[in-house]
Amino acid sequence: MAAGRGHFGSRLGFVLAAAGSAVGIGNIWKFPYMTGQNGGAAFLVLYLALTFTIGLSVMLAEFAIGSAAQRNPVGAFARLKGGLWPVVGALGLLAGFVILSFYGVVAGWTIAYVVKALTGALSSNDPEQLGGIFGEFISSPIEPVAYQALFMALTVGVVLGGVHDGIERWCKVLMPALFILLLVLIVRSLTLPGAEEGIAFYLKPDFSLVTAETFNGALAQAFFSLSLGMGAMITYGSYVRKEENLATSAIWVTGLDATVAILAGLLIMPAVFAFGFNPAEGPGLSFVTLPAVFSSMPFGEVFAALFFLLLSIAALTSAVSLLEVVVAYFVDERGFGRKKAATLFGFLIFLVGVPSSLSLGVWSDFTIAGKGFLDLMDFVATNLLLPLGGFFIALFVGWVIYPRAIEEVTNRGEIAFPAARLWGFVLRFVAPIAIAWILISGL
Ligand code: PHE
Repeated sequence: MAAGRGHFGSRLGFVLAAAGSAVGIGNIWKFPYMTGQNGGAAFLVLYLALTFTIGLSVMLAEFAIGSAAQRNPVGAFARLKGGLWPVVGALGLLAGFVILSFYGVVAGWTIAYVVKALTGALSSNDPEQLGGIFGEFISSPIEPVAYQALFMALTVGVVLGGVHDGIERWCKVLMPALFILLLVLIVRSLTLPGAEEGIAFYLKPDFSLVTAETFNGALAQAFFSLSLGMGAMITYGSYVRKEENLATSAIWVTGLDATVAILAGLLIMPAVFAFGFNPAEGPGLSFVTLPAVFSSMPFGEVFAALFFLLLSIAALTSAVSLLEVVVAYFVDERGFGRKKAATLFGFLIFLVGVPSSLSLGVWSDFTIAGKGFLDLMDFVATNLLLPLGGFFIALFVGWVIYPRAIEEVTNRGEIAFPAARLWGFVLRFVAPIAIAWILISGL
């Protein structure tokens, strides 16, 4: 282990930190509205299929790269092969930077909703009123930016604490709490009068709704949700002890992430139909639907505040991994101290995120290719950079360093890995071909 680099303290710590990165507002905010916009159950099926084939394989590939190189994404490619490969790491850094810029905006909303829940501002089950509250809030020029700043400051704070005391310690407590609260809320949502229609929309696939765009959306969502394609899992893999079973860890992280996404859909979709919201409503879906669920429960405000608090925390553990990628590069390769790197880049990323927030209000007239700034950032990073990163990571591990990667996954033959051939096949052929085909036809 390179001196001075952090590392995870326990076997569980690594899995929970990686799961903390994966489970975030991607699961609870993005997944339900993507599902709503893309025809419901058919999207869910595609998303799951891509998650457990390409997603799982690329996650293990990232762990193997990180563990073999003990470096940030750029340094890892340089160490293992060099040539043009470090460019893949650099694209990952860029993706991390861009994603965190708008992620911080939406995460700020979740903090704001904790406050709104506590002050009773969300106590309504009228779709129009809740939509109005949300619309007014996100289009204001000041309030959401202030919450975004607060969230980014918290993210910097955790990253300053380092790998073991900062990242690992938080994830261990917060992930289980989120999970339990989700289960409680689902019971309420499923027992709402009129929930059946939502359940059918969510679980009965109609494949006539599937288009090339659905594929692109499902793949992008799988990568985004699993934190893949930009080196977050390379970075976390670089902090892991060699005797860790990487394949089992990858299965756990993928499984947990998919479970939380499925549960989030099971929470939101019945409520969408029960209260007469529009499933294709878009990015506001969770923020307008959930308050209606809470207002139909005893102690609704308390549950609402608690839920948005956990959501903020889930967002925090993901944001930390995004910032950590950038910080690890500047610490490993550019001689920055952790403090300086975290503060400086946390601040720069905040600044780049401000136009994303304003694009929902005062700057909404400014569009490129018909998209506002936030949508554009999201599209470029999530729909293009992540799948592209995944494409190259699969090729790299499948074709360039495969024997070395197997050594890493088996800890030089100490750990059994019966799926070795299948993994190689997916990385060499299935993932690159599928990703290329989906990207090309999606555009
Ligand atoms: N996976 C996180 C989420 O679902 C977002 C994320 C993407 C985090 C890429 C790190 C890297 O919210």
